[in-house]
Amino acid sequence: MRFDILTLFPETVDAVLSESIIGRARKNGLIEINAVNLRDFSEDRHRRVDDYPYGGGCGMVFMAPPVVKAIEERKKTFSETPLVIYMSPKGKPLCQSLVNELSQNDNYIILCGHYEGIDERILDYVDMEVSIGDYVLTGGEMPAAVLADALSRTVKGVLAEAEGYKGESHYDGLLEYPQYTRPEEFMGKKVPDVLLSGHHENVAKWRREKALSETLSKRPDLLKKAPLSEDDKKILAKLKRKKRP
Ligand code: ADE
Repeated sequence: MRFDILTLFPETVDAVLSESIIGRARKNGLIEINAVNLRDFSEDRHRRVDDYPYGGGCGMVFMAPPVVKAIEERKKTFSETPLVIYMSPKGKPLCQSLVNELSQNDNYIILCGHYEGIDERILDYVDMEVSIGDYVLTGGEMPAAVLADALSRTVKGVLAEAEGYKGESHYDGLLEYPQYTRPEEFMGKKVPDVLLSGHHENVAKWRREKALSETLSKRPDLLKKAPLSEDDKKILAKLKRKKRP
């Protein structure tokens, strides 16, 4: 999977995507991340890429010519047409199902905005706007890193275990079951017996129940969309009865 991230701050993007699992995947060649400086596409002798907004107002706006040139020039370097994504608070909200949908692509150009926004005409060269939540950040660098990270972990071999992300929160519409590691007892609290039993079927059953109860108590909204079996529904009904005073 390849990402070209267009930004005024390539070092920032590169730094957050160089450690741990993503850093290793880059070294192994499973993913390629190029942090591209938008200023390299400016025709201006001061390498400017922004200007004052027409109509007045505070802040600066990215100009169309250097940004569109960056998108078009980088596009030419891909063997397959990349999906062009602009990180913006006006975009489609990012969630695991959108990550899974987007991950059908192997090539991306991600544009990071800054200041007050971008010239509206740039959007003619963008396939999709994506938001990482209903709040405004100072720039698109962190959102771009969030998206690149979430997409990278869907690439086969990036996570150590092939099935690494199965059972994780949001994988199947539920939150993940609680995890425990050594010691067996901490501050008087013991690891649930079933996890020490070695009985795989009981462990799996316990985990499913806990995933359902975690979701019910922390994110009940997710249950409306989660694919639930008849057994799941029975467990939930029991949990709800227990919750009532
Ligand atoms: N840029 C600034 N805020 C953002 C957000 N919430 N999501 C994506 N890009 C952004």
